[in-house]
Parts: sequence; structure tokens; C-alpha cells
Amino acid sequence: MGIDKKSEPINRVDGRAKVTGKAKYFAEFEVPGLTFAVMVTSPITRGTIATINTKAAERAPGVLAVFTHLNMPAIPGWAEQGNNSKLPSGGERYRMLGSNKILFNGQPVALVIADTLERAQYAASLVTATYNKAEHHTDLLKNTDKAAMPPRLGDYTRGSDTNAHNTAPVVLKADYTVPIEVHNPMELAGILAFWEGDDKLTVYAKTQGVKSTQRTLAGAFKIDEKNIQVHSEFVGGGFGMGLRTWPQEVVVAAAARALKKPVKLVLTRDQMFTLVGYRPYTIQHISMGATQDGQLTGIYHEATAETASYDDFTEGTVAMTRFMYACPNVTTKYRIVPLDRGVPIWMRGPGEATGAFALESAIDEMAYKVNMDPLQFRLKNFAETDPERNKPFSSNNLKEAYQLGSEKIGWAKRNPAPASMKDGEWLVGYGMSTGVFGAHRGESTCRAQLNADGTLLLQSATSDIGPGTSTAMVQIAHEVTGLPIEKIRFELGNAAFPPSGSQGGSATVSSVGSAVFDVCTALKGILTEAGLTFDNGTVKPAAGKSDGLQEVLSKQNKTFLEVTKSSKGGAEQEKYSMYSFSIHFTEVRVHPGTGVVRVKRVVTVADAGRIVSPKTAASQMIGGVTGGIGMALTEEGIIDHRFGRFVNNNLADYHVPVSADVPHIETIFIDKPDPVTNPMGSKGMGEIALIGFSAAVANAVYHATGKRIRELPITPDKIL
Ligand code: MOS
Repeated sequence: MGIDKKSEPINRVDGRAKVTGKAKYFAEFEVPGLTFAVMVTSPITRGTIATINTKAAERAPGVLAVFTHLNMPAIPGWAEQGNNSKLPSGGERYRMLGSNKILFNGQPVALVIADTLERAQYAASLVTATYNKAEHHTDLLKNTDKAAMPPRLGDYTRGSDTNAHNTAPVVLKADYTVPIEVHNPMELAGILAFWEGDDKLTVYAKTQGVKSTQRTLAGAFKIDEKNIQVHSEFVGGGFGMGLRTWPQEVVVAAAARALKKPVKLVLTRDQMFTLVGYRPYTIQHISMGATQDGQLTGIYHEATAETASYDDFTEGTVAMTRFMYACPNVTTKYRIVPLDRGVPIWMRGPGEATGAFALESAIDEMAYKVNMDPLQFRLKNFAETDPERNKPFSSNNLKEAYQLGSEKIGWAKRNPAPASMKDGEWLVGYGMSTGVFGAHRGESTCRAQLNADGTLLLQSATSDIGPGTSTAMVQIAHEVTGLPIEKIRFELGNAAFPPSGSQGGSATVSSVGSAVFDVCTALKGILTEAGLTFDNGTVKPAAGKSDGLQEVLSKQNKTFLEVTKSSKGGAEQEKYSMYSFSIHFTEVRVHPGTGVVRVKRVVTVADAGRIVSPKTAASQMIGGVTGGIGMALTEEGIIDHRFGRFVNNNLADYHVPVSADVPHIETIFIDKPDPVTNPMGSKGMGEIALIGFSAAVANAVYHATGKRIRELPITPDKIL
């Protein structure tokens, strides 16, 4: 039993609050006696702090404390956890201000707290330190000899001829590079923390998971989770950086406890490059074999990515290659290289966005080698069932998506020969690619409260980092109860609400939405028991009854009816392979004189099951493609390896796409319910909006110019 009709597009329920400034982000909360923290960071990349002098800073006006590794209050959970192998990652953990060791450039060495931000900034400028420098390694390309298999991702092989990729009639061998990319949400990271006594902590945080932040802080301070309040109602973009509670957030909470004052830390833009993760620099080798008539016979895909010296960050870069095409022989390997850098973290389309650039570029290259249309080549090697797990897909409408997208962009009308199309002095190219991401669903809980006035309040400890979580949830509740949108309110971003997972991995609508569906269904049952029913947008007496909601409530001595429901996927799902799919078509212009690439048109088709909230879903796709344009053409964190330091750690030099870079993006939804994933029939779409897109651009650039660019971003110097 689920929702079977198509959803109407509705406006964001919190849109007005967002555009009028009423929506409050963590840094905007006013707390009496608030103090301000500023971090002093290391200019060296590896070594130890020899001396650190905080005296002048301590004497500066308004300064309350300067914490360094010499006087940092102990964080009990950290001390106990040590190098415990039960930690989410192995290796030597980085504990901010925990020792005199420097593990990466930009590592905080002091935390200055003052009564105003400006005074804290000034005092921070007075902290001086000397260092014992050690040799550092930050260049992945120069350290591939240290590549090791990560503990949590083994090699994968299927097929009887594991050398088919080398011995096939047609062989393609190519290397692809994806540089460091930094999330760069508009809102800066940080935290505001204060205590009541020593064991009641409240934080306003920028996080993608209020429960996860609560758990991390509970573990660090060894206090009960219920004594930690975490608020994060509005988040100004995350893209993955908010999936961890970072060491500086824990340290700020510790400082607030020591000072018995509220402390707020907001990272600077350059600190966003070093202290909240990034998409790791990754090099990939693909070797692919096919018959003359375009049947894939073997694929070998090996990815090598950077991680920190103290952690083993691992992501699904080679995951897509294992099942995307009906190829009998496939081997994938993933290796990590520890460098003297802060740890990477998931970034939109984590792993797959990197892997899809390589795989979907290689598919295009092979299609040209066997003289086939890249679309026909994909159809010829289409996997009807998941060849990795030998399971049927819960739903897979890729063929329809290929058709809709290709018709819309006019794929068949192009001249497929490279460097054959022109528009004035610009070269014209068409490219396509496929994206895929697991249709995940985690356990979620939602509370429903039906008030005497017939309004419905829903609460769950989930997040909204921008996609419009509340809007989708209100829409689901509307469809189950029939109550009008304006009578339903969904509250999130508070760890005191019933538990849900972090907003990540494109799973929120599937996970939390299922709990909303279930709790609204349960509410209907409670109404029936009470002799009531949802009828045409209001609560009415059931047939043969006379008491309305108010009478029922007053007779039961209540002011509202409430019910809480927890929801998760069932065993039935084990029989299926559940994925969301996307197809990206692009038309680009390449200027042969300057090497400038402009994305001129985009058609993106999502097979993401039934679309719960068409308007926010379309916005989500547009946002993902926009990120994809950045990935394809402009985004690259550049390190000067002599110093191990970023040279473009600001938004002037690190180019995220702006309006002038982004054409009209057409989004098409297949909008067919998946019968297995959840009662809404939906599949996630946060990641598929980006995954694969950069390959569609690279493939279009090849079609326009005859030049194959295998190294992102596709900057003019690579075209010329
Ligand atoms: Mo996303 S990288 O799951 O925030």
C-alpha cells in the first residue's frame, strides 16, 4: 500500500522564511554572554610545534583564554578512545590541540576566545610559534608507491577471463584524473556551544545530522545523549562536509565548558579548504575490451586516491563499474595513499562522481573505437539485471530515459563525427553520460501531533541542507491524510525529535518520508478508533458518529492526538538491487582560439522512482548539474607542494560556477513508482544529479574538437 498518484508541484514551505532572512542559521543565534573563537593555524605541513607564545594574545583586550596543546582541557572521550580500532577509521587519529604534532598545513595550533569577534581575530594575530619542520608529502602523483588497499573495500573480480580487457579485438587503455574539489557551501562551517553546569550541553551547529552530532559529542564528553541539545534547523549547503562533527567543533564545546561561557566558532573561507574535508584527488586507470561490433568483453578499473596520514577515507569510486554494463569480465581495485593532508570526506556523488567521469568517458571512447553511436553502444551493453549481485533491479527505466533525453536534445540530428559542427567561430559538440547511485533507505522515526484546530505537526530529527526536506515531507503527509498543505507543518533539525539518520547518500525522502507515511497512516487508524476520519481536508466525525475532533479531545482530556512511528525497509528489499539512474545530455561550444568551453544546453533525465515533490526535485537536479558544470570546467583545489599549502583557497581563485556559467537546465523525470523501495515509490536524487555529468561535458568537448580531455577540470590550457 502506497501513494499511487502523481504529485503536484508545490512551493517550498520554508521558502518565505529563507528569502526574508527569518530562517536562522547556526551562526545567527544570539545567546547572552556569547564569546567568539578564532583559530590560529599551522603554516608548516608536517613536524612539531617547538615553542608557542600566547602571552601577548592573552593580554590583548577582551581575551578570555588562549588554548593550545599545552593547556587544552582534556576531552575525556578522546583520551579514552586513543587509537582504538573501533573508531570509524583506523590509523593515528588527529586530535585538535591534542599534541605538538603537525599533521597537515592549516592544522589549528591555538584557539583564541574573546568577547568580540574582532578582538579574538586581533589577539589571534599576536600568537607566535616556532616549528620543527619535517619532510612532507602532499602530492598524490609522486607518492603512488605508498598506495595500499583500504581496510573496508576489497578488490572485485567477476568472470572467467580476467584478461579480456587486454586481449579483446578492440582495447582501450586510458588514465583519468579528478583533482581535489572543495564543497564550498555558501554558509561557513562552525558551531555555537554552551553548557549548563558540566553535563548539559547545547549546540547550534552546521550539520547534516543532528543525531550524529549529538552522538559524537556524547562520545567525546562521555555524557548522556539526552543531555545534549543539537539544533540545526537551517543549513546553508553541505554537499557532504556536514556528515562529520569535526575536531574543532568538539574543541569549541570543550572550551565553552572550561570557560563556563557560550562560545561560537565560524570557520574562515580558507579554513573550509583544510578543516572540513574535500573530494580526494584521484587517478584512475581503465582498461576496456570489446568485440568489433561493440560488445564489452572485459573492464579493468583501478582508482588511487589520497587520504590523510591519520585516517583511511574510502569511497565507492569503482562501484559503478562493477554493475553498470553487461560485461562478463570485470575487475575493480581501489587504493589509498596517505598524505600529509587533512582527511577527505564524501562530497556530492561521493566516489561515484569521480568513478563515473572515468567510466563514462571510457565508454564514449570505446564507442568511437568500435564506430558506434555512444548511445547505441550503451544500449548494446545494457545490463537488464544487476550483474554484480545477480539480482533484478527494483526498477530501471534507463532505456526510456535515454530515449526521452536524446529526443529532447536532438541527439540523432547531430553529425556524430568529431570536430564536424560549427556555430560561427565556435565548435559545437554533443555529449552524454549515465549516472547511478544506490537507492538507500535507513531507519527513521516521525512523531505526528494532530491539534484541536485540525492542524498537523510532524517532527523528526532529520536535516535540510537545501533540497527542501520539509516540503517533501509535508507533501507526503498531505497525500496520506488529505489535509491541505497549509495545515501541515514538518519540524526537523533538532536532536530531541524522534531519531532519523543524517541527510546524506540521497536517502532522506526514502527514509524519513517512509516514517511520515507510516505515522500518517497510523494517525488515520487512531482517528478511526476515536470515531473520526479525514474527510476532504478536515477531520470529521466518522459515519454514524457525532463528535468532532474538539469534542473527542475534550472527552479524552487531551489537547491533541499523537502517535510516533519508526520505519525501515523490509526483507523483501534484499531480493532486489535498488538504484537511481540519471542520463545527462549536453551541448557545448568550444572556442578554438581561446580554448573556452561553454555549456550551452543541458537535458538531464532522472529515473528516481515516483517524484514526491516535483518542484524541489527539479531544483535539486538543477543544483546537481550546476555542481557538475563546476566539476567539469572550473573546480580544482591547487596545492603548492613545496609548502603543502593551497594557493587558491578562496572563492575568487577556486571557481564555483556562477549564473553566467549555467545555461537553462532541462530536467525530465520518468516519474514511475518503484515497487520496492518505500511506500512513496521514490528513489533518491541528490547524488545522481551530479554523478556522470562531468563525463557528458568531456564527451561533448571531444565531439566538438576531436580532443579527449581525461583530466578535470577542462580548462582552456588543456583544449589548446
Ligand atoms: Mo552527501 S556527499 O551524501 O552529503
